[in-house]
Amino acid sequence: MSTPSLKKGAPLAEGKRETFSSRKLFILSAIGSAVGLGNIWRFPYVAYENGGGAFLIPYLVAILCAGIPLLFLDYAIGHRYRGSAPLAYRRASRKAEVLGWWQVLICFVIAIYYAAIIAWAAMYCWFSITKAWGDDAATFFMEDFLQVAPEAGVSLDIVGGVFGPMLGVWLVAIIIMVAGVNKGISRANGIFMPLLIVMFVILVVQSVFLPGAIDGLNAFFTPNFEALQNPGVWAAAFGHIFFSLSVAFGIMVTYSSYMKRKSDLTGSGYVVAFANSSFELLAGIGVFAALGFMAYNANSAVGDVATSGIGLAFIAFPTIVSAAPFGSVIGVLFFGSLVFAGLTSLISILEVIVAAFQDKLGWNRKSATLVVTVPVAFISMVLFPTTTGLYLLDTMDAFVNQFGILACALVIVIVFGAGLGMLPRLAKHLNRHSSIKLGTGWMVLVGGVGPAALGYMLINEVQTKISESYSGYPVWFNGVFGWGMAGALIVGAVLMSLVPWSKKSKLNDPEFEEHQQKVEAEELPDPVGKEY
Ligand code: ALA
Repeated sequence: MSTPSLKKGAPLAEGKRETFSSRKLFILSAIGSAVGLGNIWRFPYVAYENGGGAFLIPYLVAILCAGIPLLFLDYAIGHRYRGSAPLAYRRASRKAEVLGWWQVLICFVIAIYYAAIIAWAAMYCWFSITKAWGDDAATFFMEDFLQVAPEAGVSLDIVGGVFGPMLGVWLVAIIIMVAGVNKGISRANGIFMPLLIVMFVILVVQSVFLPGAIDGLNAFFTPNFEALQNPGVWAAAFGHIFFSLSVAFGIMVTYSSYMKRKSDLTGSGYVVAFANSSFELLAGIGVFAALGFMAYNANSAVGDVATSGIGLAFIAFPTIVSAAPFGSVIGVLFFGSLVFAGLTSLISILEVIVAAFQDKLGWNRKSATLVVTVPVAFISMVLFPTTTGLYLLDTMDAFVNQFGILACALVIVIVFGAGLGMLPRLAKHLNRHSSIKLGTGWMVLVGGVGPAALGYMLINEVQTKISESYSGYPVWFNGVFGWGMAGALIVGAVLMSLVPWSKKSKLNDPEFEEHQQKVEAEELPDPVGKEY
């Protein structure tokens, strides 16, 4: 593969690796990545479908036993080996590079559909002002706006009303990415995150004061304990927490590689995890309070108005906007929050891909960003603003989470735990660079509990998805865009790991050699009687 011209700007292989200029900016960007469509669009319906209040139990177990421990694993690998996912894994062990490319390809799949949802939200922000859906939000969403084909399939019929805003989303994302870690990613998070927090808090406060809100909250928090006996509920909790925390698909490895050597890894991780879950719960409260109002208005039960999945945001919420006092304000706040939360996550997902190519081929930032993101945007624009885009999105989201992220997390904990036996070294690295020290419990969770729990859930998920066709779509459709896509990610990852590293790549970067000497010195056994 030839590298693009490097005439303009210093080639990155000779330049210094970018770092977040402060710990605060790292934390803000990590929260910006974690808080995304997963929190506002996905969490409320996943929680509701999987036992309501009882879901909070597997959710908390998943955060404590897997989410936070794996977040620390990502931080340790990224900060210790200072590279994009493929480079960091390769530096840890030559054979582990393939795991990095697996994560890059998972990010590719997420990015192509993620941009579509942001574009829908941007349009709905606009529609909220005039309540453009009239009195039938479901028909408006499916027929007028998305023009969804009657059956799942692949069509190249472009829907203009989605194509335009998607183009806008991709342009904004690409401009931010070209500007780099500090001028682009940090700055965008510095602007979008405070806006998001203010808008969302106003929205939640407004929602809980709507008539009937309490019934919505009861529906959300009333546990259905039977659901806990279903392994699928646990798989949903684990799959969701990885997606939501941006763990196990390369984002946190990449972002932590931009942290300065002297950092507080676990302290930052706890702040990020706490902020992410707080936001998620707040989203659940806001959305279900609003659904309670919707039920009150329709004189029916919350269970009857709470549609699952995509519909919850784009069908239920517009109905609420039409009926609530200051409805347009609620709509602009809700869909505006989705846009800001989505954009800050989209750029982190794209960063995994851009950084990987930048490291492997030694391209400068601008070239890597354009060469990578323009084709990604093109594929996204061909597949999703079409009459079958909704079906593709649904299947790809389900399979990339369960058989992409969950499976990748399982392989990583096995490789770094039992396979390479690297957990003690990584724990030591975390403890050297953290205010809150980890005990052996972390290694037990990552190396023992993690593989057992993830393995069990994954087997169950495979059985369920084989025995019933996902969402009732044709078998060929789920076969190609579900199973086929998940398998293609692994094949693609193997192929990418076989591509030789360019001479200009970051593999033998002198800056890393220096960093390596320092961290290796830290890893020597402590001399007897000497405290570091
Ligand atoms: N963590 C991001 C989200 O929740 C990907 O949407």
